[in-house]
Amino acid sequence: MSKPFQAIRGMNDILPSESALWQGLEATVREVLAAYDYHEIRLPIVERTELFARSIGEVTDIVEKEMYTFADRNDESLSLRPEGTAGCVRACIEHGLLHHQTQRLWYAGPMFRYEKPQKGRYRQFHQVGVEAYGMAGPDIDAELICLTARLWRRLGIREVTLQLNSLGSSAARAAYRERLVAYFETRRTELDEDSQRRLHTNPLRILDTRNPAMRGVVAEAPVLLDHLDTESQIHFAELRALLDSAGITYEINPRLVRGLDYYCKTVFEWVTDTLGAQGTICAGGRYDGLIEQLSGPAVPGIGFAMGLERLVAMLVAAGYSGADPNPHAYLIMVGDAAQRQGLVLAEQLREQLPLRLRMNCGGGGFKAQFRRADYSGARFALILGEDEIKAGTVAIKPLRETQGEQVTLSQDQVAAHLRMALNSTPSVLERDARG
Ligand code: HAM
Repeated sequence: MSKPFQAIRGMNDILPSESALWQGLEATVREVLAAYDYHEIRLPIVERTELFARSIGEVTDIVEKEMYTFADRNDESLSLRPEGTAGCVRACIEHGLLHHQTQRLWYAGPMFRYEKPQKGRYRQFHQVGVEAYGMAGPDIDAELICLTARLWRRLGIREVTLQLNSLGSSAARAAYRERLVAYFETRRTELDEDSQRRLHTNPLRILDTRNPAMRGVVAEAPVLLDHLDTESQIHFAELRALLDSAGITYEINPRLVRGLDYYCKTVFEWVTDTLGAQGTICAGGRYDGLIEQLSGPAVPGIGFAMGLERLVAMLVAAGYSGADPNPHAYLIMVGDAAQRQGLVLAEQLREQLPLRLRMNCGGGGFKAQFRRADYSGARFALILGEDEIKAGTVAIKPLRETQGEQVTLSQDQVAAHLRMALNSTPSVLERDARG
């Protein structure tokens, strides 16, 4: 026999035992986004390769070596999206969403990067991304950061730090880039192979090298924050004042440059020590020139994306089990007539209550079905046997302790009984219905 198939390396299944936690996380994210009046945009997973090259940057790791790129049937080069900002900007330009109006948008879904898989770093991973267009001032920067801080509070995530930096205008960055290249030239022999390669293509990225041997060279490099243009300096100071008044603490990290080329002015990352090497749970910044660069109107943009796998890992570490909720009731049916009536009864009950009702399928005698009911973790077994069918009743047997005695009721009383019984064990139905 041939070996069973396995998932592609770095691409994970999310199993039923985990999906409840994902759904809870996604629901909370959606609630927080709604509280700030952000609206969902759904974007394709595949875009033209050139869109990513022109926005993320030709000489970034993502575009140079991490994209899943393929030729379409007409030989056009397409790529699986490695991130969502480029597609979001493309869609907004294409549909005229940026003319004379501001936009507050979010999207969610899988992204693809051919990275070396490790804990917290996958080849297919999931992001929720948020983008805001048409607002140039630091107020929107502050709003986005407040939104993320609120989300962490709502999720009970505490061990995260906000790192903040400003990359300045593109002119200031170009001048700084020259200064940086000149500096690194004087220390060329100390640069590792990767940094030597980047020296003339993307020298800013040398600053966020993970190579400990380069710590000294990087520490002594000129600091971009000291060379900001006046407008960016004012923007940054105002943002800091807004965050201070909102009670949001942050660290200024002058080495934070981000791995995508489109950023200017504000950049930020939320990082944690609790996840090992892949500790950035959320990252983003301003990209005022990108929309125009992609042939759209001259409209500023800012956004961020968070990695859901990393957030789920934090929730698990904080003790959320993510256990799949058990059914409220399990319907046992013995005999053909019971089978037919049971199907109808189950449909009626689902109509009447926000009930998670599992119907026995696959036959079996009373004992076998009862064992399945118990194993399912249900609170009640609803029993339809020959006697019940004759009498037009249902037996309701509590399967867990403290759920009272077994009762036999007429079929039209079952919903009311279950509603009372489930709500008396603190509001199980209402809580479960909310998810
Ligand atoms: P990014 O920093 O490349 O930014 O990714 C954002 C977040 O996605 C990271 O902080 C991390 O949590 C998660 N992430 C990235 N790569 C992986 C991976 N291989 N495995 C698991 N999680 C990962 C962007 O993507 C920008 N588009 C963010 C943005 C939106 N900036 C402005 N608007």
